[in-house]
Amino acid sequence: MKNASDFQRSDNIVILGIETTCDETACAVVENSRKVISSVVSSQVELHAPYGGVVPEIASRAHLEMINPVISQTINRARTVLQSRQDNTSEFRIDAIAVANTPGLIGSLLVGLMAAKTLAWVWRVPLIGVNHLHAHAYAPALDAEPINYPAVALIASGGHTSLYFCQSCLDVELLGATIDDAAGEAFDKVSAILGLGYPGGPAIERAAKMGRADRIKFPRALLDEDSLDFSFSGIKTAVLYYVNGTPGAIRSGVTKGIEKLTEQDKADIAACFQAAMVDMMVIKLRRAAIAYKAKTLIIGGGVSANSALREAVCKLGEDIGAKVRLPALQYACDNAAMVAGLGYHYLQAGKIDDLQLDAIPTTRQ
Ligand code: KG4
Ligand code: ZN
Repeated sequence: MKNASDFQRSDNIVILGIETTCDETACAVVENSRKVISSVVSSQVELHAPYGGVVPEIASRAHLEMINPVISQTINRARTVLQSRQDNTSEFRIDAIAVANTPGLIGSLLVGLMAAKTLAWVWRVPLIGVNHLHAHAYAPALDAEPINYPAVALIASGGHTSLYFCQSCLDVELLGATIDDAAGEAFDKVSAILGLGYPGGPAIERAAKMGRADRIKFPRALLDEDSLDFSFSGIKTAVLYYVNGTPGAIRSGVTKGIEKLTEQDKADIAACFQAAMVDMMVIKLRRAAIAYKAKTLIIGGGVSANSALREAVCKLGEDIGAKVRLPALQYACDNAAMVAGLGYHYLQAGKIDDLQLDAIPTTRQ
């Protein structure tokens, strides 16, 4: 079996990544940290849609069904791409396996981790455990230029909302995180309140395009003056009360409810909610970028697909003179290319694991 030192040179290094932290079964092959050779993502959205959110038990069972087909498809595509290169007569090979082993749903994590350990053992290649959230902060480098550090990264998904100071892709320090709901969760719940469907982020974004963002002033929870934490449960309740009435008003006979809303009302509520969410995230990103003198602003995670957030972050970059790195849309949501890409840097730094590697579900990291 090869050691990490065998890879600390400039050869072509091909890493297979696996990602099963939540409800996407994903595998990818990435060359030299940034060139994505193949990337396959099998989404479970349809399985979870009837419940309005991810059901952990359903997620882990679906991963079990999909993991082998997704890995095979990824390898077949990668083999075709690599063998069709005229300058590459060598055999198709994988140099290491990177797997997102933290944080995530424990049942889901275990499926990807077991697959990764099996491949590493069978192929006698190093196993690399990668932090899923740090991988999101690396995603803008895929199929693109290297990231210029120091950077601050806002990672916002269905399960997490975290702010990081990154001195490099390996040196990642948590500055703040949500103290209650994740940003994506707030999008999903408000979409459910408005009857717009699941997943909520894209549904809210579509509705917001038709709405007026200045009609309702929803609260922006900013916590202490210099806090870098987030709180999104208040805005969710504010939307709920706006739509259904406060408990006091309901008791005194004031009737409200979704059936009283026109399509335009729903669009306006979506636009005002989205504007408040974007404000809360961008204000914290600005605070962190200034405090840590960041050269680059990074966003990642499913919520980073939101075009209002992307525009606001680009504007922030212009205002404070920082470069902005957005992930390509296919790498904003969960994918394994970001895991394989970051895995390359772990490998070069000698950060490899053995077959005892654990799945760690913890969220604040
Ligand atoms: O990163 P991700 O794919 O999976 C998790 O690790 O959770 O993020 C999924 C989350 C969901 O809550 C979804 O509603 C949200 O990202 N999302 C969006 C958009 N697209 C996905 N939120 C806002 N705007 C979007 N366009
Ligand atoms: Zn994610």
